[in-house]
Amino acid sequence: MNGRSVVLRACAKINWTLEVLGRRPDGYHEIRTVLQTISLCDTVAACEARTPSLTVAAPAGTDLGPLEENLAWRAVAAHTDAVPVALRLRKRVPPAAGLGGGSSDAAAVLRGLDRLSARPLGPARLEVVAATLGSDVPFFVRGGTQLAAGRGELLQPLPDLAPAWLVLVTPPLVAEGKTRRLFGLLGATDFSDGAATARLLRRLSTGQPLTTDALVNTFDRVADAAFPGLARYRSALALACGHALLCGAGPSLFALCSGAREARAAAARLRTLRVPARAVRTLTAGTSTRVRVCVAGA
Ligand code: C5P
Repeated sequence: MNGRSVVLRACAKINWTLEVLGRRPDGYHEIRTVLQTISLCDTVAACEARTPSLTVAAPAGTDLGPLEENLAWRAVAAHTDAVPVALRLRKRVPPAAGLGGGSSDAAAVLRGLDRLSARPLGPARLEVVAATLGSDVPFFVRGGTQLAAGRGELLQPLPDLAPAWLVLVTPPLVAEGKTRRLFGLLGATDFSDGAATARLLRRLSTGQPLTTDALVNTFDRVADAAFPGLARYRSALALACGHALLCGAGPSLFALCSGAREARAAAARLRTLRVPARAVRTLTAGTSTRVRVCVAGA
């Protein structure tokens, strides 16, 4: 042991689009979604140690569940060439909020372990390991902007977008088994053919800026039924920014803003109404996945 440690961001994500195409024979649903890492992040530190351990620091009242079931902890076991590490996880991304927080923590652990490993797997093989932990985890291995298809595990990295500012609202609402519930609430008329996502991809590939009319989330129609009380947060954000979209399966919501100043002002206004809001910006793949390596005594 030479006391090396790595420190990584574990960024949250939003979905620019999320379309559900229909039910698959395996009981899952076929989706098309364009995912984007944002500046709201957890921090993961992994330090070489004789005895593996996990400590978590989180805002008061955060329900993290049993530590041994934490996805970050399970990621250590999943990496095929992990050195023993003491893991420290500092949570800022609310769990079960549609922001991919737990999945991002797990991917950050995998990236960190890979950096400490004498035989690194590299991103492509890390994504395969990540998929064993959950459908959302592989995206966070590379982060940035990516198209996801299938159950969400078939990824295509897209070129980095010009930075964009958003207002993110994180309602303190909990729905047990929300992802299954939301898929279950969809009817045949909610299914689409992926055309909105294809349109967004064409727009991005020709360098056109993102506009709100390009954004869609199929779950927006049914989310209020799964999260009683969500409507108040949605209308407050829509009033402040002109629109509001669900992040993943919710309950978090976001709105696209024209710049940092507009986003910060809108978030501050919302907080005066006791709506938990913050201004965040999009992060590129490189910024999302940077690893800081420290050597004790160096
Ligand atoms: O991926 P995750 O385990 O969070 O999914 C929870 C549930 O949501 C699944 O068991 C399935 O019922 C539903 N689901 C789905 N189609 C997907 C992803 C999840 O039907 N693409």
